[in-house]
Amino acid sequence: MTAPIVRTKEKLRTLTEKWKANGESVGIVPTMGALHPGHLSLAQAARKATDRVIITIFVNPKQFNNPDDLENYPRTEQDDARKLAPIGVDVLYVPEVDQIYPAGFATSISVNGLTDVLCGAHRPGHFDGVATVVAKLFIQTGADMAFFGNKDFQQLQIVRRMAADLDIPIDVIGCPTIREDGGLAMSSRNLLLSDRARIYAPVLSEVMADMATDLRAGKAMADLQEAALDRLEQAGFASVDYLELRASNDLALLETPSRPSRLFAAVLLAGVRLIDNIEV
Ligand code: PAF
Repeated sequence: MTAPIVRTKEKLRTLTEKWKANGESVGIVPTMGALHPGHLSLAQAARKATDRVIITIFVNPKQFNNPDDLENYPRTEQDDARKLAPIGVDVLYVPEVDQIYPAGFATSISVNGLTDVLCGAHRPGHFDGVATVVAKLFIQTGADMAFFGNKDFQQLQIVRRMAADLDIPIDVIGCPTIREDGGLAMSSRNLLLSDRARIYAPVLSEVMADMATDLRAGKAMADLQEAALDRLEQAGFASVDYLELRASNDLALLETPSRPSRLFAAVLLAGVRLIDNIEV
């Protein structure tokens, strides 16, 4: 059976207050819909960890850099509800824009530092939009635990920082990246890849895995970057926004994995921007 859909914060609060009064824990999985197996794995993690599970579906206008992207973002509510049915989530919260950004809304949350690098450097304002909407969703749901994919690792760290800085009492859990056969990290954007681009897309994760092996064996980024960029170019990746080793906690740029770190990449393949990261 598909979960009930709630569209207003008042109705949502009636539910969550009842759950809380019964001593039940609440988990939230924030999404923008167009659910794929990566999202479903987050819903499953929430289902295991908390008594009640809320999936939010909100295509957040404040995190899009391009109005066409916002306009064309897939809206597949009924499909999403069907995909979630076997997991048995408790409610889908699908607010209209005015439930999140009522008339006169004037607040923006900026997480300094973490948002200046990687995707933040290429998508001005994007992470302010993410931090703002996620803060609203945390507050509206009053959830005890939130589940995010490691695939968007920078987003995960920004959300953790924001919740800690604002004293929002929620545990933010990072869950493993789910990959297609061949290694391409699952993303709603993969739907935009042509059949031809799909053949080459897994090269990104291959190149990153090889770099991670070499870094663990003692090589430095300077020894590896040029050959990696050549391999990506030969596979048809038109441009590379970044291919960097960064510390996992504060995203500081590193040359060698001298502390817990991850390799991050953002590339353009046949007009589609793909991002990925792996632990080194
Ligand atoms: O990762 C996403 O889908 C979005 O950035 C999120 C966390 C749902 C906020 O809109």
